[in-house]
Amino acid sequence: MSLVLLDRTVNALANAVAVKDTYMLSHQHRVAYIACAIAKKLGAEPEYIEGIRVLGFLHDLGKIAIPDIVLFKPGRLNQQEFDLVKMHPWDSYNILKGIDFPWPVAQAALQHHERLDGSGYPYGLSGREILLEARILAVADVVAAITSHRPYRPALGLKEAFEEISGKSGILYDPAVVCACLEVCRPRLRGLRYGRLPVKGPDGETASTPQSGPP
Ligand SMILES: [Fe+2]
Repeated sequence: MSLVLLDRTVNALANAVAVKDTYMLSHQHRVAYIACAIAKKLGAEPEYIEGIRVLGFLHDLGKIAIPDIVLFKPGRLNQQEFDLVKMHPWDSYNILKGIDFPWPVAQAALQHHERLDGSGYPYGLSGREILLEARILAVADVVAAITSHRPYRPALGLKEAFEEISGKSGILYDPAVVCACLEVCRPRLRGLRYGRLPVKGPDGETASTPQSGPP
């Protein structure tokens, strides 16, 4: 696949999920930004970081299959609703598996809710059974989610995000990834809290993330 075609494909897919949920667009940007910063801190090559950027934009694509009544529910999900949400890594994988990316995007999207101790889903993989790309994404995803406004709670601060990843480092999250995330995110506290991080969009342009919040 040519780079131009690849960029257009990523852009189209990232926008497709934003049609359903405007929060997702800013979330994708935030996750991609943080995950790329983590990968860079870990010493990754530019080509690997580009794969992480693409993964950041596309990992939650499967959420388009979640019914609106569940996706936008303002309260806690019941078990049946959570079971529906837990399907989204599979749906992301099924959408992405046919695209000939030079990175394991579909596989890493499938694994982005796996956790180091085996408590994640869908397989309950543990440790290095989980792709490094998915371990990086898991940390970036939780930091972006905690610091964003959601239908069921207002945005929390970077302090709460740091407590989550630090407290569960080595349990849920890869310690090296957590360490890198703490180093790169600390100077960004205000930007993360208020959704004004400079980001590189799927079209390669730099822009500010929109204010996140429920539609
Ligand atoms: Fe997800």
